[in-house]
Amino acid sequence: MLVLGIESSCDECSAAVVEDGRKILSNNIATQIEIHKEYDGVVPEIASRTHTEWVKGVVESALTEAGTDLAKIDGISVTNRPGLIGSLMVGLSYAKGLSLASGIPFIGIDHILAHLYSARLEHDIEYPFIGLIVSGGHTIISVVRDFDHIEVMGTTIDDACGEAYDKVAKHYGFGYPGGLIIDQMAQKGDDRAFSFPDPSLHKGEHRYDVSYSGLKTAVINQIDQFHNEGYEKSEHNIAASFQKAAITMLMKRLFKASSDTGISRVVAGGGVAANSYLRSMLRDKNNLEVYFPSMELCTDNAAMVAGLGYHYLKRGDRSGFDLSAGSRVEGFRKKYP
Ligand SMILES: Nc1ncnc2c1ncn2[C@@H]1O[C@H](COP(=O)(O)OP(=O)(O)OP(=O)(O)O)[C@@H](O)[C@H]1O
Ligand SMILES: [Mg+2]
Repeated sequence: MLVLGIESSCDECSAAVVEDGRKILSNNIATQIEIHKEYDGVVPEIASRTHTEWVKGVVESALTEAGTDLAKIDGISVTNRPGLIGSLMVGLSYAKGLSLASGIPFIGIDHILAHLYSARLEHDIEYPFIGLIVSGGHTIISVVRDFDHIEVMGTTIDDACGEAYDKVAKHYGFGYPGGLIIDQMAQKGDDRAFSFPDPSLHKGEHRYDVSYSGLKTAVINQIDQFHNEGYEKSEHNIAASFQKAAITMLMKRLFKASSDTGISRVVAGGGVAANSYLRSMLRDKNNLEVYFPSMELCTDNAAMVAGLGYHYLKRGDRSGFDLSAGSRVEGFRKKYP
């Protein structure tokens, strides 16, 4: 089954053709990073306008690259939530138009479930597993029972992990987007220079939750308070110490989730899953079976949307033309503790 995937939830305009949920025939990702760089963040109105200009070309070249055309496509899979409404509307409306004109069925896809599916494009992974979503907008630790079924264990109670990276980078003028830049700067810094706090959310209903707002404030406004004598207050040291605190906080909750559930298989997804510190901390845990998507499949891409869509379409699921776009996650109830 050939599925055309379309992704436009934020600032990546992407289309892909994936065969049987696994074989990527094309994965065309047009990023708007250069456009939003001057604002140090994504400007929603500019993002949706740019999607409008790009979507047709991006879809057509994905079909061409895959050596196919619309007539040979069996289903269309498109992100319809969560994300920026204006951006989502462009991809969703385009998919509806293609479906209406061609008679090819389409399915609306949850972007978070798609991030969790990314690693499955490249690896055989059995359910259940502990799913870790760490992206620009979300930080979620969950038990993943099936492609369409997750049980949320913990989330951020304020900022997402990637958002904290981006805000710290913006404050210090490191550049945009901040995650990769801080990760690279941290390689040249000493993470012992600052001891940033880990919020004590480990009790009761917050056992698996994280919080990045306090860490962000500490790094931005209270740097002197957490400085350790004998170390330089350099930008590289700030980056390294922030990165250590941000990732360690998350890993502690993840390891606890794994040991409490007895599920040792862990699958990461989302932009921050590309982070080198996170990858090495997870890889060093010998008792865990860990899967990551390749770098290109960590951030937003349509291959994960097409791959996940295949499973819904194969089961006979279809979306109607009344399907709307949604800005928030839906239907993920917190099941633990
Ligand atoms: N190496 C890295 N280390 C840390 N963060 C990174 C790295 N590479 C990318 N990021 C961060 O990943 C985020 C982008 O990831 P992604 O595209 O999955 O997020 P998003 O789509 O904006 O959010 P969401 O998926 O929650 O809607 C940004 O915050 C970026 O700074
Ligand atoms: Mg994303």
